[in-house]
Amino acid sequence: MAGDQVDLLNSAFNTFRDASSKLEQQYALLERKIEDLNTEIAEKNRVMERTRRLAAMGEMAAKIAHEIRNPLGSMAIFATLLERELAHEPEKMKLAGHITKGIKTLDNLLSNMLLFASSPAARRRPVDIKEVIEDSILLARGREKEGVRIRCSHEGRTALMGDAVLLRQLFLNLLLNALDAIEEGGTIGISTAAPDDSLEIEVKDTGRGIDRAHLDRIFDPFFSTKERGTGLGLAIVSAIVSAHGGSIEAKSKPGRGTAFMISLPINPVNNVC
Ligand SMILES: Nc1ncnc2c1ncn2[C@@H]1O[C@H](COP(=O)(O)OP(=O)(O)OP(=O)(O)O)[C@@H](O)[C@H]1O
Ligand SMILES: [Mg+2]
Repeated sequence: MAGDQVDLLNSAFNTFRDASSKLEQQYALLERKIEDLNTEIAEKNRVMERTRRLAAMGEMAAKIAHEIRNPLGSMAIFATLLERELAHEPEKMKLAGHITKGIKTLDNLLSNMLLFASSPAARRRPVDIKEVIEDSILLARGREKEGVRIRCSHEGRTALMGDAVLLRQLFLNLLLNALDAIEEGGTIGISTAAPDDSLEIEVKDTGRGIDRAHLDRIFDPFFSTKERGTGLGLAIVSAIVSAHGGSIEAKSKPGRGTAFMISLPINPVNNVC
C-alpha cells in the first residue's frame, strides 16, 4: 500500500474514532438526562397521587361536615328550648347556654370548612347590609365577655347586590375574632358608608391588636395564633370579599386594637334600595 494511502486510512480511522467517542459521550449524556427525567416523572407522580388523595379527603370532609350539620341543627333547636324552659333557674340556664355556644362554634367551623373546600361563589341578590350585620351579631351572641359593647352606625344607603349567606359568614368571622381579641369592657364598632358605587365597611375593635410580623399572614389559610384556632376564618373572609369583587385591608396597633376595612361594589346595574 502506498504511503499516502496509509495516511488517508489513518486519518479516516482517527476521524471515525473521534466521532465514535463523541457519540459515546452524547449517549452517556442522554442516559443521564433520561435518568433525571425518570426521577422527575416519579416525583410528579408522587405529587399527583398526594393531590388526588387530598382532593378525595376534601370531598370526604365536606360530606362529613354535611352529615354533622343536620343533627347539629336539631341539637341547636333543643338547646334553645332547654334554655327557655330553664329561664327561671339561672345556674342551669347558664349550663344550657354552654351547649348552645358549643353548637354555634361547631357550626361556624363546619361553615368555614365547607366554604374552604368549595371556594365560595356569590349568588347575588338584593341584600341590606344592616340586616346581615344584625344577623351576624345574633349568631355571635354568647361569645362576648362581660360589658362588651357592639356599636353599629350606617351612613347613607345600605343596600347592595350580594350573597346574604356568605356576607353573614364574613361578619361572623370578623366579629368572633374581635370578641376573642377584646377584654371585658371593650368595644367593637361596625360602620358602613356608601360614598359612591361601593359600600365601605369598617369593623374595628379595642382588642390586643396584631403583631407587625403577623399582619402579612393573617389572611393565609391555617395561620392562627390561637391554641384552638383553625386559621380558616380570615381566609374565608378574604375569599368572600373576592367573590363579591371587593377588597379588604387590615390595620392594627398592638395593644390598642384592630380595624378591617372592606370595600364592596354595590353593583349599580341591579341597584335596589
Ligand atoms: N381582631 C383581631 N384582633 C387580633 N388578632 C386578630 C384579629 N383578627 C385576626 N387576628 C389574628 O389573625 C389570626 C388568623 O385569624 P383567623 O380568623 O383566620 O383564624 P383564627 O381566629 O385563629 O381561627 P378560626 O377563625 O378558624 O377559629 C388569629 O389567630 C389572630 O392572631
Ligand atoms: Mg377567626
